[in-house]
Parts: sequence; C-alpha cells; structure tokens
Amino acid sequence: MRDVAVIGVGMTKFGELWERSYRDLFVEAGRNAMLDAGVDKIDSMYIGSMSPGLFVGQEHTGSLMADYLGVAPCPAVRVESACASGGAAFRSAFIEVASGISDVVLAGGVEKMTDVDGAMATYALATAADAEYEGFIGATFPGLYAMIAHAHMKKYGTTSKMLAAVAVKNHENGSRNPYAQFPGKITIDAVLNSVMVADPLHVLDCSPVTDGAAAVILAPVELAERLGKPPVRVIASAMATDTIALHSRKDLAGLNAVKVAAKKALKMAKLKIVDIDFTEVHDCFTIAELVVLEAMGVYKPGEAGPATLRGETARDGKFPVNPSGGLKSKGHPVGATGVAQIIEVVKQLRGEAENGRQLKRAKRGLAQNMGGSGGSCTVHILEA
Ligand code: COA
Repeated sequence: MRDVAVIGVGMTKFGELWERSYRDLFVEAGRNAMLDAGVDKIDSMYIGSMSPGLFVGQEHTGSLMADYLGVAPCPAVRVESACASGGAAFRSAFIEVASGISDVVLAGGVEKMTDVDGAMATYALATAADAEYEGFIGATFPGLYAMIAHAHMKKYGTTSKMLAAVAVKNHENGSRNPYAQFPGKITIDAVLNSVMVADPLHVLDCSPVTDGAAAVILAPVELAERLGKPPVRVIASAMATDTIALHSRKDLAGLNAVKVAAKKALKMAKLKIVDIDFTEVHDCFTIAELVVLEAMGVYKPGEAGPATLRGETARDGKFPVNPSGGLKSKGHPVGATGVAQIIEVVKQLRGEAENGRQLKRAKRGLAQNMGGSGGSCTVHILEA
C-alpha cells in the first residue's frame, strides 16, 4: 500500500444558494481543489451525494460532473452512504491511490437541498432511515436524534444546557469561518428559548438545510513532494456500519459504528485517541457531538456534556472539537459534509485556518462523518 497525501482543497460557501445549480456548485469546488493542488488533470473521481434524485431530479451524477468539470472521459462515480457519502467518497479515493491504480484522484461531495420545500427536504433526508420501520410511520431525523437525546439524558443525566453548550461553541467557531451558513454567535439562553423542533431538540440544536460542495485532491506522498505541496498525509481510513433502525440497537445512548470505525482507524495509525490534537465530528444535532465523542473514547459515556460546559472542547480547550463551526454553524449539505470536514483538518494542519480559527496545536487531526442516525460512519486521521 502506498502512502497517500491530500494535495489540494476547494469548497463553495455553504448556505441557501438559490442562484447556483447543483452542477455549478460541484464545478466551483472541484476547480478550486485542482488549482490549489496545481494539477490540470485527474485520473479518477468519486462524488459523495446523498439524494440528488429527490433534491434536484438528477441521477447519473458521476458522468455529469466529469463532463462539466471538463475531465471526461476520466472514470467518475457517485458514492452514497446518506450523510456519510462525502466520507465514503474520500475513503474510495484514498483506497484507489493507496492501491496504485491511480495517482491523482478527486474526492468531492455536493448537495443542493433548498430547491425543494421544507417538507420535501425532510422526506428526502428521512429516506436514509429504515423506510419500513421508521420512514413510513413518519419518523424524521430530528425525531430520531431526539430519541437518542432522551435515552442519553435518562441514562447519564445529560441536560438541555449541555446540548446548548455544543451549539454555542460551534457557532463561536463558525463565526470565524468565511464559508459558514450561520456564522452568528448565539447564547445558551437563545438555544433554550428557540422553537422546539422535536423535544428536547430546539431549532438551534439542529444543523440546517444547506446547499454546497467540497472537493479535495489525493496523490501518493512521493508525487506530493515532487509538486512541492506541504504534505498532509492520510494515515488512517476506516468505516463501519450499524442497524439503520434505532429499535434494533442494544444501546440507544451509544453509537456502535462510530466506536468500531474510530477503533479501526486508531489501530491503522498505531495511535491512541490522546495522540490526536483536534477533531471535526458529525454534529448534525447537538446530542450527536456528545455521543460521538464518547463512542470514540475522547470521554467516558456521560462525560462529554459536562466537559463541553467546562469549555474543554472549545478552540482553546484541551481537545478542540469542530473548529470549522461543525455542521451546526457551517451548514450540512449532506453529500458534501464529509469532504468539508477533511478540508478543515487539512487547513488546520497546514496552518491556514482563517480569521483566528487556527489552533495552536495541530499536528494530527481526525474527521468523523456519519450516515443517518449512525447506520454508517467513516473515520479518517490526517497528519501534518
Ligand atoms: N441554525 C441556526 N439558524 C437556523 C437554523 C439552524 N439550524 N435553521 C433555521 N434557522 C433560522 C433561519 O435562518 C430562520 O431565521 P429567520 O426567520 O430570521 O430568517 C429561522 O431559523 C427559521 O428557519 P426555517 O428555514 O423556516 O426553519 P425550518 O423550520 O424550515 O427548518 C429545521 C428548521 C431544524 C427543521 C431544519 O433546518 C432541519 O430539518 N434540520 C435538520 C436537517 C437534517 O435532518 N439533516 C440530516 C441530519 S442526519
């Protein structure tokens, strides 16, 4: 297996981008990544996109994007694993470069979610739940994560204030990210007094509905060095799955796919979680950030909430989480999210995070991306 590096990154602003089409978004991110890498051709590409058929009426998006990016006839395929589609696309590109089949591979992600109304967006997202046992009876993702939140509150005493502290911290980070959809700073009171979406999750506990795209270029480390790029190595790639229906899980207050994927990634990198300096995690709802940190072993079960309230996961805390603003503030264009997380890790490792968002200690970063309510999970570890 060859050593693999990320040699270029590019993304669009995240938000409600009515003036831009699905393909425009991907092309902007892809061109920016190629320019950043200093390459004018690629050997292959993978595009994470969860549900373009329902959001914009378009399938067969691998070929479409290769054509509009101007790289056809290069091989191109869409990768789907719900909200972990971007992480899965990155993993596919990593495997192709590591195997020696291709040298320069683009991993991208794109979603255009605001061309449909809220009800349709909620339906399209809910197709990533178990249709027969959850979707057809009206379960939505805010509702499913609300059940996880209740289970966690009952088992460990987690409070709404602890959940709100996740949102406040992520909006503080996002206020320094020029690509963020909701860069406004918020307070605990603002979260607790915002509209209830699915008890105990208020609107400010939820990631938003977002348009956006992100892309990175991977190459063997040897080639990265020849191109004179600051080498950011991908030292681990792992993926795991779980039941997509919540009722089949042994523990509603935990996420087994996250636990297994993180363990596999750390084993591959020959590291322990304490060797990681910071992480981008899948905070689609505030409760998700807490359960993910506990599943990855950053905190014991029940301890992530109090630690967040104490400021330990803030930019200047002992283990910074979501310096980009996370899905909560940066936005969550579902197929693009996993790739955008990798971009934040690369920027931090290169020392290029904007507006005072740069962390003091950033030698190794971890990106955790999750599909549905934890039915799939990818974990990648990158090193400067
Ligand atoms: N964070 C901060 N502000 C938000 C927000 C968010 N997540 N979502 C909406 N807002 C703001 C809007 O800007 C708007 O403010 P304004 O009235 O000042 O313009 C206001 O809140 C209402 O926004 P609106 O778009 O009408 O909200 P909505 O009720 O249609 O949707 C949610 C809110 C939470 C239901 C929707 O964003 C959602 O479904 N999120 C979850 C997405 C999801 O499930 N993703 C997959 C995860 S697995």
